[in-house]
Amino acid sequence: MGKRQRLDKILSHAGCGSRREVRDLLRARRVMVNGRVVTGGELGIDPEQASVLVDGQPVQYREFTYLMLNKPAGYLTATRDRNAPTVLDLVPERWRVRRLAPVGRLDKDTEGLLLLTNDGPLAHRLLAPASRIPKTYLVRVDKPVTPEDLQSLAAGVVLDDGYWTLPAQVRPVNEGNTELELTIYEGKYHQVKRMLKAVGKQVRYLQRRTMGPLVLDPDLGLGACRELTAEEIARLKTIG
Ligand code: URA
Repeated sequence: MGKRQRLDKILSHAGCGSRREVRDLLRARRVMVNGRVVTGGELGIDPEQASVLVDGQPVQYREFTYLMLNKPAGYLTATRDRNAPTVLDLVPERWRVRRLAPVGRLDKDTEGLLLLTNDGPLAHRLLAPASRIPKTYLVRVDKPVTPEDLQSLAAGVVLDDGYWTLPAQVRPVNEGNTELELTIYEGKYHQVKRMLKAVGKQVRYLQRRTMGPLVLDPDLGLGACRELTAEEIARLKTIG
């Protein structure tokens, strides 16, 4: 038997809206618990046992929210900033109210896969350097990379602060050798840009395609997000 929780909290956590929107749903007699219309959010129920319906549809109880965002360039990986839009500005209100935070960081001009969650322990595990989760990037550079560059990037290069990067995987993905797929197992500040700089190249475009078991959903347009599937969440939880 799980813990009893307030109905309005359960509905809000399930993505039914902010506390105020949930109050309106209840007042409009659209919520049923165990077969009865309930109009007050303070009712205490066990979300794992009770049947909760909104407009006749079952409400899926979730303790945490996990979103995959296809980050566009121009947005800061932060929850709030006075001068620039942040990735949270892209998240619809019904999820934003759940106090999500980005897991890791993409530069303002980097696009692609960003995970947002309010599952602090999972975020912590994913970010721990020891977890060494692979992250794959599509990298476009200003000049063709040479076979020697590829070897250096794969073996490890020395960054501008003297740090020696861990072995990585790299392969060119276009004919002109100006587009690469690079998989790294760590996350130093501006790591990909600095790795390419170490071999004399400047990054013109950067997109994250994978993070651990997560793969950027090709159906997610730039700036769009969706909840992770139960299977994606289960795979993430095997890490750390
Ligand atoms: N490496 C970078 O240089 N920038 C990013 O945004 C991510 C990895």
